Amino acid sequence: MFDTMVITKAVAAFCGALLVFLLGNWAAMELYVPRNANAPQAYIIDTGADDEPAEDVVELTFEEAFEMADAAAGSRLWSQCRACHSLEEGRNGVGPYLYGIVNREIGDVAGFNYSGALPQAGDVWTPEILSAFIESPSGVAPGTSMNFRGISSVEDRANLIAYIESES
Ligand code: HEC
Repeated sequence: MFDTMVITKAVAAFCGALLVFLLGNWAAMELYVPRNANAPQAYIIDTGADDEPAEDVVELTFEEAFEMADAAAGSRLWSQCRACHSLEEGRNGVGPYLYGIVNREIGDVAGFNYSGALPQAGDVWTPEILSAFIESPSGVAPGTSMNFRGISSVEDRANLIAYIESES
């Protein structure tokens, strides 16, 4: 049968073969793997290929948003106004009461001390004018005493106006 020497040689040959693989692997790594494989790209060619696809989000006009306005959702937004306004007729706070404000005359609450800055005195608060005012009170009425930064979302404004209208 096999003597010790044959077994020793076989094992040695096997280990030698592994060693060759190990060295080959090491040499290949040196040759082919760039040292700075993870470095940031030096320059990027803009092919335009991975530009964000143009989103199909169409900004609603106020009219469209108002048509499908959700008064229930607007009731949550009312919390931004209630510190200064009441929906109860005749009850003024920091601001005039807003009962019936939709299509009410601008600056028409007797006994409320308006700043005189509100737009188009003598006109009425159409939903559109209300929306513009709520979006940016000081933008529409520079100098207004309504100290409120505004609501930017057109849906929110439409919902809120629908809520105020429904409560009136
Ligand atoms: C910090 C207090 C404050 C907050 C908050 C506030 N308002 Fe006013 N609001 C006022 C004051 C003060 C006036 C009077 C403005 C003037 O005379 O220039 C006013 C005026 C108005 C008017 C005009 C009323 C009229 O009789 O012509 C409308 C409409 C109005 N606010 C709506 C709102 C809505 C809607 C909100 C909530 C999104 C709101 N306001 C939040 C204080 C506030």
